Amino acid sequence: MRIAQRARRVEPFYVMEVAKAARELARQGGPEQDPMIFLNIGEPDFTAPPLVQEAARRAISEGKTQYTPATGLPELRERIANWYGQRFGLPVAPERIIVTAGASAALQLACLALVDAGDEILMPDPSYPCNRQFISAAEGRAVLVPTSPAERFQLSAATVEAHWSDRTRGVLLASPSNPTGTSIHPRELEHIHQVVRSRGGITLLDEIYLGLSYDETFGQTGLHLGDDLISINSFSKYFSMTGWRLGWMVVPPALVSVIEQLAQNLFICPSTVAQHAALACFEPDSIAEYERRRAEFKARRDWFVPRLQALGLPVPVVPDGAFYAWADCSGWCERMGLEGSWEFAFAAMRQARVVITPGRDFGSHDTARFVRFSTASSMEQLQQAVSRLHMLREMTG
Ligand SMILES: Cc1ncc(COP(=O)(O)O)c(C=O)c1O
Repeated sequence: MRIAQRARRVEPFYVMEVAKAARELARQGGPEQDPMIFLNIGEPDFTAPPLVQEAARRAISEGKTQYTPATGLPELRERIANWYGQRFGLPVAPERIIVTAGASAALQLACLALVDAGDEILMPDPSYPCNRQFISAAEGRAVLVPTSPAERFQLSAATVEAHWSDRTRGVLLASPSNPTGTSIHPRELEHIHQVVRSRGGITLLDEIYLGLSYDETFGQTGLHLGDDLISINSFSKYFSMTGWRLGWMVVPPALVSVIEQLAQNLFICPSTVAQHAALACFEPDSIAEYERRRAEFKARRDWFVPRLQALGLPVPVVPDGAFYAWADCSGWCERMGLEGSWEFAFAAMRQARVVITPGRDFGSHDTARFVRFSTASSMEQLQQAVSRLHMLREMTG
């Protein structure tokens, strides 16, 4: 069968190989007292809170299951707009909010609306691998720009300027980032946006982890920089609704009808049941629960990151959000005679029964030195993982 170039351009997701090998090892069993610990997971270990579950059941039993407008239920757009007002003190017009099937669909719509064949979009290296593929699926090219700890593993105005070419159409940033959990400093973001704007480009800002921010300096949306910036968000992370497939985007007024037309044709609408359920996310009881969870994620970070440092797995920039730690495993690789983070991830999986994600998928700049730990697991599991890694360290000298 002849496969289209477009599909062939999409790169494999190597992380899945690690996850598959880990599941296989777990299935084969092992010491009963040592079940595999999965610190490779990119989703909260919490489910939707009770009011949200109840709202979904009610929508089904009341037959509220027909298509909604392509841009989403008007009440939901309104509630999301209010959330920006309450949480960030920023008025956002509900008409600029488009509800989508997760951030993934929002990114796809943004790329299809704005990227022409051959257009280049600048992105940081490392960054979330799927975001590159949305650009590629729109026949554009993601240009990965190496980043450093001094830049919080993010693009800066200077690197954007240095890499801008005639073919550059804009930037795609994620703040906080997956895999590093680090955000762009608000002042730097402002400068980046100025550079992009002055070149007639677009700033696409993936803010899917914005709700999970632990540091006041960083926990602000970039939307206050003007209505020409596109923000992508989701119910997946802060709202613990990964599998419900619901997200949203805030777009410039001039883009609303373009995105609406694309969304009508490509998706008809996001899941109706999920949208009715999501209305309950903004009830005070649900928000209180989400804030408890945010505090739990912060407590895990505060406990776990210093332990990694002590284990000889330094985290060059303390994550200010999300639930990831980007740790340098080069010291371990040297000691164990391993080539890089890919081999280290397999060694940790086989010898310590701790599953982590090697840097490889996230880019190519220095990624053989880094692994991503996820703290979307209970404190107890994090403690066990640390003690197993400690034992492995003792064993390997
Ligand atoms: C940075 C980033 N953007 C987008 C997504 C896609 O999320 P979803 O489609 O579940 O909203 C993820 C998922 O892990 C992510 O980490």
